[in-house]
Amino acid sequence: MKIGVMTGGGDCPGLNAVIQAVVKRATDYKYEVVGFLDGYTGLINGDTKPLTLENVRDIYQDGGTILGSSRNNPFDKEEEPGKVMETLKKFNIDAMIIIGGDDTLGAAKKLSDMGVNVVGVPKTIDNDLASTDYCIGFQTAVATAAEEIARLQTTAKSHDRVLIAEVMGRHAGWLTLMAGLAGGAHIILVPEKDFDINSVCKTIKKRDKKGETYTVIAVAEGAKPKNIDDLVTVSKEKDEFGNVRLGGIAEVLEKEIEKRTGKTTRSVVLGHVQRGGPPVAFDIDFGIQLGVAAVDLVKKGKFDNAVVLKGNKIVTVKLEKVVEKNRKLRKDLLKFTDFFSMM
Ligand code: F6P
Repeated sequence: MKIGVMTGGGDCPGLNAVIQAVVKRATDYKYEVVGFLDGYTGLINGDTKPLTLENVRDIYQDGGTILGSSRNNPFDKEEEPGKVMETLKKFNIDAMIIIGGDDTLGAAKKLSDMGVNVVGVPKTIDNDLASTDYCIGFQTAVATAAEEIARLQTTAKSHDRVLIAEVMGRHAGWLTLMAGLAGGAHIILVPEKDFDINSVCKTIKKRDKKGETYTVIAVAEGAKPKNIDDLVTVSKEKDEFGNVRLGGIAEVLEKEIEKRTGKTTRSVVLGHVQRGGPPVAFDIDFGIQLGVAAVDLVKKGKFDNAVVLKGNKIVTVKLEKVVEKNRKLRKDLLKFTDFFSMM
């Protein structure tokens, strides 16, 4: 048995834990493992790296991915699915373990439909994949963003300012809500609930009157004001999966809040800091469990599936279920967006 492994889409902490666990479990079964480099680019061009116990030893604590990643979509150009099939044949790959978010696993599903033996592993700091409670990388990103937001508290307080942190997460508010709550943000703005700039300013003024002369806001890059349809983007240009690059809402808010409240306001984009650095213990443990479960599915020949977390157990779901829709923040969690706005 020869297994191919690939990481696609935006990187995140915890990917190397999955890779190390895959190689260890596969070696236990006397399977061979080969890594494809830079997401689907490696599968299209046949760029590989052998994965042995020696070259994955102790990588589980390292951030990023030793295989590299990209947002290359193998279904973007007509000839590329054929190239992927040729590569798989050339390297005698019996099964692919594909670690990715909705774009990468969406393409993995298409490859599966073409007859490739695929097992998917969910990862993304956005935590927006359906059919799993968590995705690899999310908990680390929450911890990182929460720490950054908490740091804004002291400087906001010293200067009686409004400080706004822009948080990643695309069209889902998981990361912003969880990091905002843990980091002590007074106002949390998420894509699932359009915000009213008047009520944001009202809260800031109310806090002022009460002697809370500073406010920290966590805003999701995909959040938008009521009655405005367009998201704020860095550029309207789309990547190969059709995603625009979100960003800039914190700066828009900064100007608007300063104008309306008269309070000095500053904004900061947390950006790729949220995807960098080593994984927290949760993502290591989770990554190891997912890696082992993925190889076990290969052993059982249960393809066209993904390994996911449900409750506190790793279970199997059909790949199509994982990518069928973008998983939004649960409605019952929305009450926490302004829970600490007034204390
Ligand atoms: O999907 C993960 C993510 O970090 C999003 O939260 C963010 O919008 C996007 O990737 C950024 O992508 P890139 O690294 O291509 O700028």
